[in-house]
Amino acid sequence: MDLLSIDSLSDARIAALIDRAQILFDDDRSATKPVKSLDRKIVFNVFFENSTRTAMSFATAAHRLGASAISFSADHSSVKKGESLEDTAATLGAMRPDAIVVRHRDNGAPARFADIVDAAVINAGDGTNEHPTQALLDAATIQRRLGRIEGLKVAICGDIRHSRVARSNAKLLPRLGAEIRLAGPPELMPEGIPQLSVGEAIAGADVVMMLRVQRERLEDDLGDAPGEYLARYGLTADRLATAAPGAVVMHPGPMNRGVEIDSAIADDPERSLIRLQVEMGVAVRMACLEMLLA
Ligand code: NCD
Repeated sequence: MDLLSIDSLSDARIAALIDRAQILFDDDRSATKPVKSLDRKIVFNVFFENSTRTAMSFATAAHRLGASAISFSADHSSVKKGESLEDTAATLGAMRPDAIVVRHRDNGAPARFADIVDAAVINAGDGTNEHPTQALLDAATIQRRLGRIEGLKVAICGDIRHSRVARSNAKLLPRLGAEIRLAGPPELMPEGIPQLSVGEAIAGADVVMMLRVQRERLEDDLGDAPGEYLARYGLTADRLATAAPGAVVMHPGPMNRGVEIDSAIADDPERSLIRLQVEMGVAVRMACLEMLLA
């Protein structure tokens, strides 16, 4: 079994993963020793794109369950000598790891890995396509803090066009009963999505999720002046004041402070769930690894 997209998970599996993550989260906070259910398993972390949170989170999750996480460094690998993705996958597969966690700039690259290797493949972000474990950790974080997902209004704002996080969340959260509002600068919105302004999306929202402008994926720079993005499209105190009472703020990271989010809001201990998302990320990835390997 692989974890390549939200669509590949049944409702029952999604519910089980979120519930299991809450238990693992509590065990970790109370320093309960986790059962080493993945003793002697080997997890390859194969990141062809930069990552801080996702890569370290999968490695931590593997270690907490007793598995060994081994990192592949694309910059120091034979990819630099021209090896194809298929040959790299076959080579890594021949070492017989139990799971391979793949991040790649091309949509569908983890699925190409999964076609070649026997190991369970987890998509850790492919191009602009999907990032299913991020959406699962976002759902688990909302569940933890607000006690429910059903009936919530979730604004996802920013560079929707390039965001695999938005795409996976737009599939997952409505299945859990949330209403999703997507908004951003017109040039960063995919076609066929009703055009909402960021202000309209945030007004009355229970959850405000901000996204980074993925300038590395832009063909033409936005050409915005310093401070302009925040004023026009970012999360400012004025915009947050129009959200529902008790609204929480999320961001998958990495943040560009002062661009998509006001720095003080990002650090607000009452409203910002950004650190909680990271902590929950480890628990969710433990639950995913257990589901695939235990
Ligand atoms: C995101 C990603 O890589 O998709 N980060 C993450 O995994 N938490 C979002 C981004 O790069 O902006």
